[in-house]
Amino acid sequence: MNSGRKGIVDPREEWRLDTRRLGKKVLLFDEVDSTNDLAAFLAEDAANDGVVILADAQTSGRGQHGRSWQSPPGSSVLLSVLLFPPPAMRRPVLLAAWAAVSVCETIWQCTGLSAKIKWPNDVLVHHRKVAGILIEQGRGTVVGIGLNVRQSTEELASAGLIEAGSLAMFSDRSQDCRQAAELLIRCLDEEYDRLCQGDLRTLEIAWKNRTELLGRLVEVECLDGNFRGRLFDMGWEAVEVQCSDGAIVRLKPEKVKHIRNF
Ligand code: BTN
Repeated sequence: MNSGRKGIVDPREEWRLDTRRLGKKVLLFDEVDSTNDLAAFLAEDAANDGVVILADAQTSGRGQHGRSWQSPPGSSVLLSVLLFPPPAMRRPVLLAAWAAVSVCETIWQCTGLSAKIKWPNDVLVHHRKVAGILIEQGRGTVVGIGLNVRQSTEELASAGLIEAGSLAMFSDRSQDCRQAAELLIRCLDEEYDRLCQGDLRTLEIAWKNRTELLGRLVEVECLDGNFRGRLFDMGWEAVEVQCSDGAIVRLKPEKVKHIRNF
């Protein structure tokens, strides 16, 4: 496939997975500026629904809040998927939960470790961030995932990423980015198909069970103020915080920016 985009080379490889909705076409590149940018470019054509972009390296990998996303070539899964979901599924909270739960399931399959979700978009193993998610919506919906697979503790520390982790750091099994990428695509596809069939409940339960701090004392940072209390429950409709007087405050998930230990 020639992407037709100035400065973008043809993919090194193309996979055609036997999936349901995404990953039927996976384009693998040695290096791109950002897999999210390339996926967004492909949104010009709705026939690219479900296309996955993978790269060994990014020259301008992007994170949340305008930050950069760094990873040495061949050390991580750098993946973006382009989708045109129905309106009810374009909610960032739902998309973030879908991606985060799929990453957790992939980590479980690669390492046997139980990863946790840190609101809204981070995945942690042993309290270290091993994956981040960047959702960008325009003509289509682009969900970008960076999953640290092979970096050593020293490599992460020398890049100044002292709170980051990788699968290799916590697992004796040898870790392979290609295998992790394929597993991740299959997990994303299975969960996305369930959502498209109207089953939002299965994901809601998995998301809640994977979220760290449930039942703990937290500070919830919202767009219109902060709330302290016990993180009582959470779901697509509300994040519930029980205050010290026992009252329960229900917050719209879209308003919740961060949930921190208190
Ligand atoms: C974050 O935690 O800040 C989100 C990081 C998202 C990084 C991924 S790597 C693949 C995709 N392409 C990008 O430029 N960013 C996302």
